[in-house]
Amino acid sequence: MCGIVACFSREDCYGKLLAALRRLEYRGYDSAGIALLSAAGLSVRKRAGGVGNLAGPPLPGETGIGHTRWATHGAPTDVNAHPHVCGKFAVVHNGIVENFAQLKAELIAKGETFRSETDSEVIAHLVARAYEGDFFAAVAAACGQLRGSYAVAVLCTDRPGEIVCARSGSPLVAGCAGGALYVCSDVPALGEDACFCAAQDGEFIRIEGGVIRFCGRDGREIPKTFTRASGGGCAEASAAGSFMEREIGEIPAALSRTLEGLRDFDFAPCARAMRGAKNIFAVACGSALHAALAFKDAAEEEAGAPVLCFSASEFRSRAPLAGRGDLVVAVSQSGETADTLGAVRLARSRGAYVLAVTNVAHSSLAGEADLAVFMRAGPEVAVAATKSYNCQLLCLYYIAAQLCYYRKDRFPSYFGELFRLPEAARAAFSAFSAAEEIARAFRDAPAMYFIGRGKEARTAAEGALKVKEIAYLFAEGLPAGELKHGPLALVEEGFPVVALSTSRALLAKMAGALAEVKARGARVALLSQYEEALADPAVDFPVRLPALCERLMPVLSVIPLQHLACRLCLLRGFDPDRPRNLAKSVTVE
Ligand code: M6R
Repeated sequence: MCGIVACFSREDCYGKLLAALRRLEYRGYDSAGIALLSAAGLSVRKRAGGVGNLAGPPLPGETGIGHTRWATHGAPTDVNAHPHVCGKFAVVHNGIVENFAQLKAELIAKGETFRSETDSEVIAHLVARAYEGDFFAAVAAACGQLRGSYAVAVLCTDRPGEIVCARSGSPLVAGCAGGALYVCSDVPALGEDACFCAAQDGEFIRIEGGVIRFCGRDGREIPKTFTRASGGGCAEASAAGSFMEREIGEIPAALSRTLEGLRDFDFAPCARAMRGAKNIFAVACGSALHAALAFKDAAEEEAGAPVLCFSASEFRSRAPLAGRGDLVVAVSQSGETADTLGAVRLARSRGAYVLAVTNVAHSSLAGEADLAVFMRAGPEVAVAATKSYNCQLLCLYYIAAQLCYYRKDRFPSYFGELFRLPEAARAAFSAFSAAEEIARAFRDAPAMYFIGRGKEARTAAEGALKVKEIAYLFAEGLPAGELKHGPLALVEEGFPVVALSTSRALLAKMAGALAEVKARGARVALLSQYEEALADPAVDFPVRLPALCERLMPVLSVIPLQHLACRLCLLRGFDPDRPRNLAKSVTVE
């Protein structure tokens, strides 16, 4: 949450910072700011609202820092926007300074005056107080007093052309692109044709004399290798549509890339854990948790391997369960989700083997896991997970198939069908017109249910999450069998129910649930590949899905739901890419 960028460029540093901030806006967009350093000193422009609000005459200077914020401490106001300035220093920060209250009290007692309500401002004061003429030493000393997580970039008016950055717990990469040097929260900020190198926790990055150097707290240089960023950065949202719409459209291509990566992936390093794990855990948050639950279904039913699936925050809140001899599958698109990383650290500290599934090769999760499978979905900018969810499911079904192979000496019957997923996903787009009709019918509803049975109960939960997240419409996803244990009480004339029925063995049971809600006046949409299910008289909106083996249907059935959520959002007048109160990468606990 929050994106930071530092830039050194002899040409148009301000424009380059703005462009990088726009590409980082998926990390937070409630306020933004830029500071540039020139011979005349610091110039700062910071405002509540999106990066677009920073438009105006370019600020002068070749060295600058910028920030796009997702507020944690203090409302999204001009004053609370970064950079925070104290004396000769300007600071941008991503993360949370957990001991800020104590530090702030100490600083106030020493005579410092604070302007904002943020935790981040303490960093600017700490650097200013630690400064005795050595810029790097002052930043290093200030960082030494911080608890919590941070990625920071600092300017000093005594040192034009220099920027000092530090990382602990929040992502930070250095890069070169278009003749400029950058340090920023994520690779997509660099734009096209970039080279980059990610910092590890505890490392500092210095831009000085037109070069980038990595070093430790003692200032000693750490040799690094820069890599060309694959697939470039993120394109700007085109007039043709939102990122979310385009990312849904990219699902077939993303699935093809995932398959290519999986084909070449060597699972041998985790063969022992797959074969002999005492317990298997799956940990994740949000959409990734729904994908992890789908993994549980597949691993249990196909490989006969029980899986304990936890929300990563809950895994951490309980007495540690995983230990030596256990396998933990951690799923995270960004690879930076604080709770998922926390769960992984806990599990590893207790001796468990961690297999990660992530979309970001240089992420913290990839670095900390014993083995990481890359989804290759390509950059996902919209806050709502779409193509990454489909690719996560594909990776996890593939891993469940490996588990089956190592435990039963054979691949499950669905294995060959995995390779048909890209084509089947494209065929699922034909359900978009039906989803559009449902969106128009349900746009003014106060709430809605998504119901499924078996593996589609996970899809129901994912569909409901999407609708809540971007259409601001209360939605609950639940196993259909749970309706009569309470939720049915809310169903009355016109109440929208979206049902998923893709298992032949469960068609009759789902028909029973539909009859129950229809009898109370519900308006029913049903997604299925089976004609007899779609012909049920209780169904007002039939949504035909392409046929594929049932095990893999959740990869397809979620696609019309993603489109439905997006259409509901647009019809209700909201921006699908920037849901209120949320950010793409949840790097705080
Ligand atoms: O990057 P991660 O996959 O770890 O993110 C986990 C959740 O924050 C994420 O899936 C969130 O629930 C999505 N915005 C839902 O669309």
